Amino acid sequence: MANMIVAGNWKMNASKSAVTEILSGLKQGLVGTSGAELVVFPPFPYLAQVQQELAGTSIRIGLQNVCAAPKGAFTGEVSLAMAAEFGVTYVLVGHSERRALFAEDDAQVAAKYVATQAANLTPILCVGETLEQREQGQTLAVVNAQVQAIIDAAGADSFANAVIAYEPVWAIGTGLTASPAQAQAVHQAIREHVAKVAPVEAASMKILYGGSVTAASAAELFAQADIDGSLVGGASLQAESFLAIGQAAQ
Ligand code: 13P
Repeated sequence: MANMIVAGNWKMNASKSAVTEILSGLKQGLVGTSGAELVVFPPFPYLAQVQQELAGTSIRIGLQNVCAAPKGAFTGEVSLAMAAEFGVTYVLVGHSERRALFAEDDAQVAAKYVATQAANLTPILCVGETLEQREQGQTLAVVNAQVQAIIDAAGADSFANAVIAYEPVWAIGTGLTASPAQAQAVHQAIREHVAKVAPVEAASMKILYGGSVTAASAAELFAQADIDGSLVGGASLQAESFLAIGQAAQ
């Protein structure tokens, strides 16, 4: 069984033809990727196409964002029940772009996390510090506070069915990857923070690293004790580079 997760967050990229190109490339190139569960996070309009094109494969589907409310007058939002109809397994909550550009706070992120688990889907909780926070020595305080908001709302044992993605804001889309040692230090601190209240869940939960991950940086990141895969942005838009990251998990 795959013990790593390599997740491709397409963000607001793709087109019908690009979806087919990426997915056919992935389907043809799965050899050597069995060390990782591959997951793609398409924009909402392509969910049906992705579900159809991935039918019968091992590649999972994720949602980039979700509404915590079940249904009703929430113009522009998408519910968990809708996502489930399209074979979604994972839901990103609290991506730094949602926090920074759409003003999502810890309470909203926690509501999405709780709703995702209630719908029997798996949240991927995204956490990470800005460059300014890192330079001021606040990295662990910021990240642990983001995790603590979930512990307060959902309980630490909720991490039995959740994934954490550590994505330093300064590393996202900048070409600056955290060094393996920098990433490992934060991953270890997150695991220790959860372990204070839920040691069993902390030991088994997966913590992904995200931020300018490429095939060149993946293997060394994956060799770290507390890194269990990656959340990939730019490099997930080409089958070849995404597969190479999957192969690094072998
Ligand atoms: P990049 O890999 O493009 O830096 O994006 C990372 C990310 O935000 C994935 O969610």
